[in-house]
Amino acid sequence: DGLLPFQHEPYFDFADPAVAEAQTAAYAQARQKYAGQTFPLLVGGQQVKGDGTLTVTNPATGEQLWHFQNATAAQLDEAVRAANEAFQSWRFSDPLQRASIFLRAAQLLRSRRMELNAVMSLENGKNWAEADGEIAECVDHCEVFARETLKWAQGKPVYPMPDEHVTTVYEPLGAVAVISPWNYPSAIPLGMALGALAAGNTVIWKPASETPLSSWLLIRLLFEAGLPRDCVQFLTGSDDVLGDPLVDHKDVRMVAFTGSREIGCRIYERAAKVQPGQKFLKRVIAEMGGKDPTVVCADADLDAAAAGIVASTFGYSGQKCSACSRVIAEASVYDTLLEKVKTLTEALKVGLPEHNAAVGPVIHQGSANRIRQYIENGKGTARLVCGGGEMEVADSGEASANYIQPTIFADVDAKDPLFQEEIFGPVLAFAKADDWRHAIDLANDSDYGLTAAFYSRDPHKLTEARRLMHVGNLYLNRKCTGALSGSHSFGGYGMSGTNAKVGGPDYLFWFLQTKTVAQKY
Ligand code: SER
Repeated sequence: DGLLPFQHEPYFDFADPAVAEAQTAAYAQARQKYAGQTFPLLVGGQQVKGDGTLTVTNPATGEQLWHFQNATAAQLDEAVRAANEAFQSWRFSDPLQRASIFLRAAQLLRSRRMELNAVMSLENGKNWAEADGEIAECVDHCEVFARETLKWAQGKPVYPMPDEHVTTVYEPLGAVAVISPWNYPSAIPLGMALGALAAGNTVIWKPASETPLSSWLLIRLLFEAGLPRDCVQFLTGSDDVLGDPLVDHKDVRMVAFTGSREIGCRIYERAAKVQPGQKFLKRVIAEMGGKDPTVVCADADLDAAAAGIVASTFGYSGQKCSACSRVIAEASVYDTLLEKVKTLTEALKVGLPEHNAAVGPVIHQGSANRIRQYIENGKGTARLVCGGGEMEVADSGEASANYIQPTIFADVDAKDPLFQEEIFGPVLAFAKADDWRHAIDLANDSDYGLTAAFYSRDPHKLTEARRLMHVGNLYLNRKCTGALSGSHSFGGYGMSGTNAKVGGPDYLFWFLQTKTVAQKY
């Protein structure tokens, strides 16, 4: 296809003092550039004001950062109209043009990674490595979607006929609503938006209210890379105006959603209703939650397993749908593994993301309260091994209540909410299995099926895990977070969502419809 061989974007080495210094400086530069500013909506290529503004707050300190508009119902309507109008030309754009825009965007991203890391970290409390991993994923998405654009533009061969010329081609759908969460405010909306745009659709981009600048900077970067400015509409504001009404809109052809199970199910249901004047059946892709297990067999490398468990459980305070939240270990290694995990967990430094502490705050007070409730209830139903108490973090200002100690419960029953419900915080449940087959059964005892890790040195057990684990992303002898675009296509089974698999070989198909043309000779 003429493109250079694909390579995942390497991460920054923050152990290098010069790199660390540059990342530290990027925070100051980001504040200088953006703090106190008010950013507009983007509709039909124009910057517009809404009805009042919302303020973005740093979850690590309570610092007020910047402001965004509250879109009105009329502006939502106008954005949907503009997206459909832009679709009439973007749908016929040359796939080579689309691919080259994405490649140019990858280059621009590479040159701004430090700034984008800092902005995201200020908005959602990721430390350097977590933010860097996500922005590197954005670069990968651009490179991957450039290649996927060209691949899908070719159509697919069909079985030939002697007296007809038959082709199968893929065509875009229309205006796609992209609704994204705060925990991956860059890579997640970008992945969904590039899927839509690569296929020839246009986008109404609604970021989470906690993290709009991360989105704004990416959209501006796409425009700079050559994307026509009417192809993405950017709407911020309240869920009353932009939640149900966006999903219900008769001219929104598709909804691409990532977020909670509750909202995902609500969207799926509402989108099924055909509105007056609607001329299609709406498509929905939804990536929702997880209750992701790590299974550790008696023959596993316990040090590797413990390191993988701690990284995947407590990275970004467990606020990932992919985060490990259950460990299921064979009885004979249970106590040893628990001790190793406890030791590593107690060594984690909790502090400001800006100072690159291993564990930072959770996103806001409401989330912290919900997580603390799980911890309090857990004290009555399971054995608290570490964490679970109050803590003080220097310089956390008004946000001090957002910090939660990394917490481990042992001997958790499979029916316990600690074992079944997504907590979305730094809380880990350990459960004992009679043997490795029992461990697989316990791992599968969940509504969800997003990611899982499985540690063993035995090829037979690994083969059985491949067959039996009910998840969309299974990782053998490695941690269950950190999917890389293009290689680990991401999406789950069961109540984890529609399994659209972003970054995978079939992702664009979700944004396309298939046309068969048969011509008589
Ligand atoms: N893609 C992320 C991971 O794999 C989660 O969204 O950890």
